[in-house]
Amino acid sequence: MCGIMGYAGNQSALPILLSGLQRLEYRGYDSAGVVLQTADGLACIKESGALGELRKLLDGHAPEGRCGLGHTRWATHGIPSRENAHPHLSCHGEVAVIHNGVIENYDSLKRELLGKGHRFVSQTDSEVLAHLLEDAYAGDPVAAVRAVLSRIKGYFAFGILFQAQPDTLIGVRFNNPLVVGLGEGANYLASDIPAILPYTRRVLFLEEREIVVVRPESVVVTDFAGAPRTRAPYQVTWDLAEASKEGFPHFMLKEIMEQPRAVRATFSGHVSPEGHNLSFADLALSAERLAGFTRVLLLACGTSWHAALTAKYGLEELAGLPTDVQIASEFRYGDTPVGASTLAIAISQSGETSDTLAALRMARERGGTVLAVTNIVGSSLAREADAVLYTRAGLEVGVAATKTYTTQLALLTLFALHLGRVRGTLPEDRLVQLLDQVRGVPDRMEQVLSQTAAAVGECAERYRTGYNFMFIGRRYNYPNAFEGALKLKEISYIHAEGYCAGEMKHGPLALVNNVPTVAIAVQGRTYDKMRSNIEVIHARGGVLILLVTEGDTSLDAFGRFVIPLPAVDEILSPLLTILPLQLLAYQVAVRNGKNVDQPRNLAKSVTVE
Ligand code: F6R
Repeated sequence: MCGIMGYAGNQSALPILLSGLQRLEYRGYDSAGVVLQTADGLACIKESGALGELRKLLDGHAPEGRCGLGHTRWATHGIPSRENAHPHLSCHGEVAVIHNGVIENYDSLKRELLGKGHRFVSQTDSEVLAHLLEDAYAGDPVAAVRAVLSRIKGYFAFGILFQAQPDTLIGVRFNNPLVVGLGEGANYLASDIPAILPYTRRVLFLEEREIVVVRPESVVVTDFAGAPRTRAPYQVTWDLAEASKEGFPHFMLKEIMEQPRAVRATFSGHVSPEGHNLSFADLALSAERLAGFTRVLLLACGTSWHAALTAKYGLEELAGLPTDVQIASEFRYGDTPVGASTLAIAISQSGETSDTLAALRMARERGGTVLAVTNIVGSSLAREADAVLYTRAGLEVGVAATKTYTTQLALLTLFALHLGRVRGTLPEDRLVQLLDQVRGVPDRMEQVLSQTAAAVGECAERYRTGYNFMFIGRRYNYPNAFEGALKLKEISYIHAEGYCAGEMKHGPLALVNNVPTVAIAVQGRTYDKMRSNIEVIHARGGVLILLVTEGDTSLDAFGRFVIPLPAVDEILSPLLTILPLQLLAYQVAVRNGKNVDQPRNLAKSVTVE
């Protein structure tokens, strides 16, 4: 949340800062700004709105300098406006700061600073930092930063420029990500790798409680107490081509269409192309250790939480392990016992979600072993967990999660198979039968994407002006009802509710007369129950859009739209049923002229509580 980009080198900094910010816009896009060290001091230019607005302001008035910072904002304190945009300057314009995170005690600090005569121009928490640094500076910028760090509470990543220290950026990490790019005659600071990837593939991930001083020829990392910290750079192997739309009108559509490839890639690390080998050889938890767990605790937020809800069914059916699913932001303030025989699985595509990281730490403190499931190599979640499993979705730029979700579903299903095998709860013939189907899933996904697009388009056209939508499902597919609703509301701003179909009679049935209901009614253990739920809605005049298994025409009479999907085992069916729901959300949003890749009020990586 909020994108940070910094450059210290021998070239003009502004174009580099702006190109980095462009690739970070998915972290926040309600305002943007830059600050450069120029011959006349610090030059700070900022604007509300997306980066394009800042570019317009800079047109013909671009400051020249070889060291600077840029920021793209996701507002926490203070409305999106030019004043509240970062960077923030101290009273005399000699210190500039950009900030990702929250300074929780900013109010009392601000009152103290106002009492000392400091003048504030924004409503942000971040501005206190510039004034505190101005007060603390006595010739040594790092000493000033350390002094200020001892006074602030919260979680943050900062980028700081002192006018008196030419060619020098200072970065601070405390519970919010920051990476350093190592170049030739230039070094970079960024909140995420895509920002700096056109310039370098060698990066240092800052650890918690570290300060970095970045100059064109040197990078020095210390902890908050000043002790040196060293580590080998990490070589980025993935490609920035993934961050281009490749001819699609939106990243979200590109990412929806990429899902068969992404799921194939995720499977390929574990399932042999032929035969029935399922391998988790790289997992830092041996089969013996896995067999010793008596309980699983799944921790996640948002779409990743939906993947967790689905995974619970697989873990209980295949591995016989009692599985508890908790929203990370609730778990961290609750008292759920964990204990040494609990395997806690923290799921986060970004690996940086603040609540999920806090939940991971808490599960570990309470005695559990933590396994991370993430899409980002080197993310905080990956580095802090006892073991990691990576989805192989590639970079996801659209704010609405699509391919990272299906790869989580895919990976967690394989992991449930693995656990079932090592615990001896999964008969060999069932394993073989499921692995046969697993290999065919990416092809089935391709089929669904191409065969359902037209019907989904018609449906989107018919209901795009609606104010409400209901999504229902059961068992493995009720979390997809939640996910279908989430996709629709986040990118089209149409209110949508996801419900377990069996719960409809306990209240939401009162709504169905006026609301289109999307019902996931593919074959499985609860098919007959689902059918009854559909009939009840139909009998009350509800409009139904049905996802059914190919060849099942018995529900045709109930559905205004009936979308057939290839037959697969119920365990694998969520990987197919979600695709028309993602397409529906996309098609409705596009028809309504919404910014699908950057929906209002949201950001891709949620690094605030
Ligand atoms: C919805 C969406 C969010 C994320 C949530 C968790 O489309 O993307 O709900 O799923 O913010 O993010 P990660 O998985 O990065 O922890």
